[in-house]
Amino acid sequence: MGNINASVDLRRDGEIAIVTVDNPPVNALKHEVRAGLTEALRQTAEDAAVKGVVIACAGRTFFAGADITEFGKPPQAPGLGEVIAAIEAMSKPVVAALHGTALGGGFELALACHFRVAVPSARVGLPEVKLGLLPGAGGTQRLPRLIGPEKALKMIVTGDPIEAREALADGVIDEIVEGDLAAGAIAFARRVVAEGRPLRLVRDREDKLVAEGFADAAETLTRRLRGRDAPAACVEAVRNAITLPFEEGLKREGELFRKLVTGDQSKAQRHIFFAEREAARVPGIPEGTKPRPITSGAVIGAGTMGGGIAMCFANAGIPVTIVETGRDLLQRGLDRVAANYRATVSRGGLGADEMERRMALISGVTEFDAVGSADLVIEAVFEEMDLKKRVFADLDRVAKADAVLATNTSTLDVNEIARATSRPQDVLGMHFFSPANVMRLLEIVRGAATAPDALATAVALGRRISKVPVTVGVCYGFVGNRMLARRSVEAERLLLEGALPQEVDAAVTGFGFPMGPFAMADMAGLDVGWRIRKGRGERNAIEDALCEAGHFGQKTGKGYFRYDSGSRTPVPDPEVERIIIDASTRLNRPRRSIAQEEIVERMIFPMINEGARILEEGIATRPGDIDVIWVYGYGWPVWRGGPMYYADQLGLAHIRDRLSFYAESSGDDTLRPAALIRRLAAEGSGFA
Ligand code: CAA
Ligand code: NAI
Repeated sequence: MGNINASVDLRRDGEIAIVTVDNPPVNALKHEVRAGLTEALRQTAEDAAVKGVVIACAGRTFFAGADITEFGKPPQAPGLGEVIAAIEAMSKPVVAALHGTALGGGFELALACHFRVAVPSARVGLPEVKLGLLPGAGGTQRLPRLIGPEKALKMIVTGDPIEAREALADGVIDEIVEGDLAAGAIAFARRVVAEGRPLRLVRDREDKLVAEGFADAAETLTRRLRGRDAPAACVEAVRNAITLPFEEGLKREGELFRKLVTGDQSKAQRHIFFAEREAARVPGIPEGTKPRPITSGAVIGAGTMGGGIAMCFANAGIPVTIVETGRDLLQRGLDRVAANYRATVSRGGLGADEMERRMALISGVTEFDAVGSADLVIEAVFEEMDLKKRVFADLDRVAKADAVLATNTSTLDVNEIARATSRPQDVLGMHFFSPANVMRLLEIVRGAATAPDALATAVALGRRISKVPVTVGVCYGFVGNRMLARRSVEAERLLLEGALPQEVDAAVTGFGFPMGPFAMADMAGLDVGWRIRKGRGERNAIEDALCEAGHFGQKTGKGYFRYDSGSRTPVPDPEVERIIIDASTRLNRPRRSIAQEEIVERMIFPMINEGARILEEGIATRPGDIDVIWVYGYGWPVWRGGPMYYADQLGLAHIRDRLSFYAESSGDDTLRPAALIRRLAAEGSGFA
């Protein structure tokens, strides 16, 4: 009894032993924890005075899973499988006491216990698929036995956790403990002992193992996960639970896990997991800097972005005021927000009462002075410098002292905007991505004068509203759009040289993006860029010709592709082919057939080159920050780890040589490899 080791404590409350693990911050099941648990179980098994055991965790959560930092290192006994075997070998009831998030190996450990109790706020889940893995500690065999293969597969393939109430209804947990968890779990164990309840292990249950509905569920769940190894392995493992004896299924699960954990996809996904967390550490924010408290927000402009941003506040329970120039525009914006919520309600993603609660947090006004009570203001008016400066001058007049003043601009100079105020230290960019209530990425743009605590406030708020904040510097297009612009130039060049939109898009989706550049352009609309170019006296040979022929994108049923009425599926269009060939002829560009491999290189390598320049200029802090931006903002396939990680896998010497080749053949000097790539390639190293 007492301390087993630095992470595991064993004490007794009468006839019930309590094993408490304390491994901050998330009680990952590192080696010391596994060793301590094994020893605690051994002692309790031998102690005749102990009649039942509770396993609980200190701190903010029950075990959040295996220790991801141990993956790829030599395994150290006891493994999690051995801890689990020791639990199942106990002849005394073992009760898992869950709070926070019981995830991955943590939830799997709980599934091996005889009983599970949880506080109402607890959540349980198997998120391994998000790391390119499958649950490797019996989860694919035990969960189907507990809740049936179909529902288990859904939890395992989506990786999304469920709430305690749902877990109770499904029989995943046995009781919800209101009040003190440890006391409740001990009382529960005592009752089990007193009643002499039978100790039935999940592994021995067979009644829910029906094959019906499984194949359809597998097909639906994996349809959109092309190219990924882990979901397919999850399906195979859960199917094994139906078709193979438990031990055999467990063995196959272990084999599949070992294959995935050493594979390239999981390594890339683990890179993104840690890069995302690293991005939260922003250089230049001194240790101990306190974010300013945010209890209310304001959004200026109820357009596409303003409405979505207001929803982000409301979704996180923060009251927000939207300011518009007129009542009609305001009403239209609020109606769009309500319609968005209604769509989620009708899909079953939100309760009607919850929608009401969130709508009640959003108020709309036409009086600008109303922003005076907000702790943080986000401007989302038209992309015009003079207008933004006027709005910020007004903000300077009415915003309260210490309010953080943010702009959602996609391209404009945040420093110039900040200079329109007398408090540039409070000004920064918060660049959301469309649709703002859905897309996870948030580029936070640090201005030359932005104060560390203002920046820390924006980062903290970003996390609070469930975004992935990445801090970047001021430049045209910041990180994501600046790199994307390189891809757009190359995409047009490919069309002029002989490719068709469907070929370019197929190469890009084949690489793993959910959408190609031309389908994306059709979705965004081609006319906006056309009008901007006209204003600036610029030309784009193909896109201008398309717009002149009324091809504005999905909104007109034709753009780079044709769209049947009511459909969003792009269909190749012979008229577009003619417009493209005409453009090639007009510009004297001979057409040739272009291999998919070349298209992929030309869609990706120029962006990597721009990423390298962004690093050289210090606009992004780390290559991993750029990777996170591309995964969360632009649909870069997570299992390829982001553009800079991908470049490192291919080797920078290869990237350098191919860029030099394309620069020569096109005569475009911007394709010459960036100095950083040349230096790192010469050193034989990579970005990371
Ligand atoms: N192993 C090691 N470190 C972990 C970890 C894990 N499983 N989970 C989180 N951490 C670390 C994070 O890297 C972070 O470290 P820094 O502070 O140094 O950046 C710290 O714990 C806190 O994490 P978050 O910032 O993410 O904290 P949060 O409160 O926002 O979220 C969480 C907590 C929901 C648990 C989230 O961290 C999470 O989703 N973790 C991963 C859970 C997971 O994938 N578990 C499955 C692991 S694989 C497995 O278990 C295989 C198996 O079948 C045996
Ligand atoms: P939008 O045209 O849909 O909305 C702009 C809204 O601002 C309009 O409703 C307009 O009435 C209102 N407005 C104009 N002047 C105002 C004022 N003085 N006070 C209050 N409201 C005013 O534009 P959208 O697309 O929402 O873009 C807004 C900003 O977000 C722009 O800076 C844009 O560059 C940026 N952005 C847009 C993205 C997109 O995909 N649409 C993505 C990321 C950023």
